[in-house]
Amino acid sequence: MASIYNKLFAKFYDLFMNGFEKGLVKNRQELVSGLKGRVLEVGSGTGVNFEFYNEDAQVVAIEPSTPMIRVSKAKQCHCQSIDFLNISITDEVLFEHIEEQSFDFIISTLVLCTVNNPKQAILNYKKLLKPNGKLVVLEHIHSSKKTHKRLQNFANPFWNVFSEGCNLNRNTDKLLLEGGFKPLEHKYFVRSLKWVQGVYEKD
Ligand SMILES: C[S@@+](CC[C@H](N)C(=O)[O-])C[C@H]1O[C@@H](n2cnc3c(N)ncnc32)[C@H](O)[C@@H]1O
Repeated sequence: MASIYNKLFAKFYDLFMNGFEKGLVKNRQELVSGLKGRVLEVGSGTGVNFEFYNEDAQVVAIEPSTPMIRVSKAKQCHCQSIDFLNISITDEVLFEHIEEQSFDFIISTLVLCTVNNPKQAILNYKKLLKPNGKLVVLEHIHSSKKTHKRLQNFANPFWNVFSEGCNLNRNTDKLLLEGGFKPLEHKYFVRSLKWVQGVYEKD
């Protein structure tokens, strides 16, 4: 059952992220608006991506937080259809709910910073994508500047508690390469944090 903190986090998430999100609108639009076919959105949260889908996308939104799903259901998805799955991407029963090699796209935005086991999540992304499927990523990663890196390492335990498990110091870009994905398009940028944005295919 959801805790009071889970409920409050979901309720105030959009408000808290508002300023931050203004800087990410174009990135989200760029990544999401062209997706067609079966799309798995991992950690769909409050549904910030929903408005960017087009009517050729059949979305499955997987999200372990019930309060987050509740908030996202109030958002309009511009997709053809959307189904919600209230479990974790690393859940043992994942493949009882969704078939392997059944998605044209997986979209992972601001989520590999938070998942309990990112290596397992990436392995499951690989299993869930069709052979020619694409992984679409927008994730904040550990800074490459020495001082920022140290600061993020120091702040991480506090930030982690405050932000429901988000980590400031994950090298998600490296984990993706190690996990068997290769970038088709790939860029880094700094907007308060360092970000990786890209489209990947299975190695
Ligand atoms: C920072 S929010 C980002 C939400 C959304 N992806 C976005 O771009 O705005 C991270 C989300 O990942 C979800 N999450 C955390 N662990 C997860 C897991 N193991 N599997 C799937 N989603 C997870 C959280 O519940 C939360 O909704």
